[in-house]
Amino acid sequence: MRPIIFTHIKCPLHRYTFRGKALREWVEQQCEGRVLNLFAGKTLLQVDEVRNDLDPDAPADYHRDALEFLRSWPGEKFNTMLLDPPYSYRKSMELYKGIRCSPFRRLKDTIPSHLEIGGKVITFGYHSVVMGKNRAFVVEKIGIFSHGGTIHDTIASVERYRSGL
Ligand SMILES: C[S@@+](CC[C@H](N)C(=O)[O-])C[C@H]1O[C@@H](n2cnc3c(N)ncnc32)[C@H](O)[C@@H]1O
Repeated sequence: MRPIIFTHIKCPLHRYTFRGKALREWVEQQCEGRVLNLFAGKTLLQVDEVRNDLDPDAPADYHRDALEFLRSWPGEKFNTMLLDPPYSYRKSMELYKGIRCSPFRRLKDTIPSHLEIGGKVITFGYHSVVMGKNRAFVVEKIGIFSHGGTIHDTIASVERYRSGL
């Protein structure tokens, strides 16, 4: 069994997750090669990213529903996929103009056809395993971002796509 690397960082909670320097730098360090930032929000990253966000006011290359985007993407495969969706229905309504995440299971099933073998999926939310072994992913790193007080931590998982698992 491979060891999982844990990082624990204290940082303020932002509606646009990567606004805070510590978290933004952590995520930039995890990205490799061509990155698809599927729920890109407002924070620009210093990586080679294709940005998608359903909100027409977000600085993005595409403004499409995440699942529709993946299903119709005709381009090259990516080396990294970044998933930072609204973490709950309530958050969609309160923070992101009622814009809701696509059905997440279908999204996860569609991801491998657009990811290079050896590529990464980096997911922010409340779970440490997202893509999972059945889709041939192994967890390499977990980032735990502590926001203090009574605010829930944010968990980021870095999962690597392996063939023949
Ligand atoms: C947690 S925020 C992302 C914040 C971003 N990482 C940042 O630091 O700026 C979630 C984003 O997902 C977008 N979103 C929600 N549902 C979506 C969908 N179905 N397809 C694409 N984007 C969606 C929202 O507009 C919102 O900008």
